[in-house]
Amino acid sequence: VKSTEIRSYPVIQELSKALADYVAELSREAVSVRNRFTVGLSGGSLPRILAAELKNRQDIDWDKWIVFFCDERLVSLASEDSNYKLAKEELFDHVPIPEANIYTVDESLIANAEEAANDYQDKLISVFAAMNTAKFPVFDLLLLGMGPDGHTCSLFPDEKYAEVLNEPVAWVTFVEDSPKPPPRRITFPLTVLNHAHNVAFVVTGEGKKNVLHKVIDLHDTTYPAALVKPVNGKLIWFLDDAASASLDGLKK
Ligand code: 6PG
Repeated sequence: VKSTEIRSYPVIQELSKALADYVAELSREAVSVRNRFTVGLSGGSLPRILAAELKNRQDIDWDKWIVFFCDERLVSLASEDSNYKLAKEELFDHVPIPEANIYTVDESLIANAEEAANDYQDKLISVFAAMNTAKFPVFDLLLLGMGPDGHTCSLFPDEKYAEVLNEPVAWVTFVEDSPKPPPRRITFPLTVLNHAHNVAFVVTGEGKKNVLHKVIDLHDTTYPAALVKPVNGKLIWFLDDAASASLDGLKK
């Protein structure tokens, strides 16, 4: 990891503001260097916290954004369970990201997790492999959440998911029995997370404080989130004070 940073804010609104500044700055940098901003979104509470302030920003080249989902539930795009639907309501409906730049799971493939994952991988390849014939896509920014069990994306803390977690070759993999509903999902494996230029976790609420201590202070790798360490990138944690309350370095 190039650097790890932890930021904590008294209220979520302040976190949202700081997150918007951070994302705007990375977008500006990426557009000036590569003329595009490649970003991966997650589900859960992330889209709302992210969009709250970001959607009002006038200083962002939205048409340069290329958006993927770090994980997606295999449901129709109109379903309440769809990460895309959530991101659409919170962000895409409010900002001019070109529709063609938002990469969604192919609805016609949701009955077959492996095919859906392969198809999503092809979409990644179409965007990334052309530019850098890299072994992995190198995102400008991946925005992640973390569950109270330490999962991130759809990478869950049970040995039986080890293969999904560390999938050495695939750019997108899948689970069919996720402990968090809905059970069928596609997800980036760790290898993809760990090749990004920037990875930001957004974690709030008291329910996360114990697992945050284990992940950040104790580096307990039974929790998948503790394995997110971008080899050549920066890692940053956006927390609220309720979530960060048990962190060694931040104790008040
Ligand atoms: C999903 C998400 C998932 C989420 C965490 C944290 O599809 O469920 O992508 O990885 O980010 O579960 O969710 P909360 O922030 O809602 O706790």
